[in-house]
Amino acid sequence: MLDIKKSAVQIAHEFIAAKGVITGIAVDATCGNGNDTLFLAKMLSNSAKLYAFDIQKQAIQKTKALLNQHGLLSDNVEIIKDSHQNIDKYLKSIEVAMFNLGYLPGSDHSITTKPNSTKKALDKMIKFLEVKGRISVVVYIAHEGGTQELFAVEEVLKELDSRFFCVASVKHVNRNAAPITFLIERIAKDESKASV
Ligand SMILES: C[S@@+](CC[C@H](N)C(=O)[O-])C[C@H]1O[C@@H](n2cnc3c(N)ncnc32)[C@H](O)[C@@H]1O
Repeated sequence: MLDIKKSAVQIAHEFIAAKGVITGIAVDATCGNGNDTLFLAKMLSNSAKLYAFDIQKQAIQKTKALLNQHGLLSDNVEIIKDSHQNIDKYLKSIEVAMFNLGYLPGSDHSITTKPNSTKKALDKMIKFLEVKGRISVVVYIAHEGGTQELFAVEEVLKELDSRFFCVASVKHVNRNAAPITFLIERIAKDESKASV
């Protein structure tokens, strides 16, 4: 059962963990300090593959170091310095994906995810999502541009056809400027679209 005492990120983890072992493709759309990549790496079966993206060299280094420290930097994991909006250069199918938006804690706060690229990346990942696949998105509204990013995420998610997707959000309404967690699950295939 959902534990609402948890943080926005912990709620995202709980939603993704409920899928159990990952046998297909997992994506960390914003690897940052590597915590979500590590979380996903622990869920991989031998045949699964994990792709982690970030635009900052520092994030790539930190993520590699964290996985290495845990003995999980294997051939099943690719850590890529590129924007998540270019996801289609690397893969075409997704079992789980996580977006933890905003800036890299302990780094330059002016380098954050941006509404346009977030929207493009989310659109593509939703198209690639397998039936029963899950995506979590944690949006921070306290930093500059955070509210616009929230609107961009909502714009994509509210258009999803409820015959094919379940979408929910969790917001701690009595916590000041609390991050919001969006939870997405593809529940059925849209047979009218050949590519999904
Ligand atoms: C809140 S941090 C991610 C935290 C991370 N998941 C963790 O577990 O430590 C957000 C990250 O998004 C990255 N980012 C910003 N724009 C991006 C983009 N277009 N594609 C991929 N990553 C991006 C930032 O560099 C930053 O490291």
